[in-house]
Amino acid sequence: MKKVKITIDNKEIEAIEGANLLHTSRLNGFDIPGLCFHHRLTPTGACRLCVVKVEGMPGVVMSCTLTVKEGMKITAFDEELETARRHTLSYLLAEHNEEYDGTYYDEMMPLIERYGLASKGNRPIPAFWHNIPPVIDDTSPVLTYDSSKCIKCFRCIKACEEIQGKGVLSFAERGITKYIVAGYGKWGDSECDGCGECIQLCPTGAIVEKPNRERI
Ligand code: SF4
Ligand code: FES
Repeated sequence: MKKVKITIDNKEIEAIEGANLLHTSRLNGFDIPGLCFHHRLTPTGACRLCVVKVEGMPGVVMSCTLTVKEGMKITAFDEELETARRHTLSYLLAEHNEEYDGTYYDEMMPLIERYGLASKGNRPIPAFWHNIPPVIDDTSPVLTYDSSKCIKCFRCIKACEEIQGKGVLSFAERGITKYIVAGYGKWGDSECDGCGECIQLCPTGAIVEKPNRERI
């Protein structure tokens, strides 16, 4: 493991060459938002919340898709980046059912507060999630999936594939109507063995454990 020096918001830090830039930034106190990244999974670059500026690279880039290189100069926080993140979060909220029953940790909630989007009147993009027909899969004995709460972050798919080595989950359809399927259709008919890894890594409660988990 080679240590290198990089700069984030004018602060020089020592980092491991090749390490994930978003993870490294967070470990060093730069709380860059991001919902699709999880340090146990390969990065996806799906939510676009983790944008930063990197000297020598045009525009903004998703920090979760970059690795640390000697001499990198990063801007993690400025007005333009924060405005872009607020707009992106507002879009995610617009296509997302926020109903919350308090039984899981919703990673969006602290971001909603942080970006001043708790009041629906403050949101630049009006909600449209209720115009998308929801797909509810309640056929598993251990969990329920609700597409109206799904932000299409890929974390469940990757948790199943990369951590559990099963590869049971994938997306059906495209764009805003896409939703998670297990196997070729219903969760209850799939190879899912109810390990719960997807429940643990889902950031928004789109996959939740059933209150009285049945035995498989
Ligand atoms: S079910 Fe959860 S983890 Fe899977 S894509 Fe949707 S929001 Fe992400
Ligand atoms: S955390 Fe980087 S794009 Fe989602």
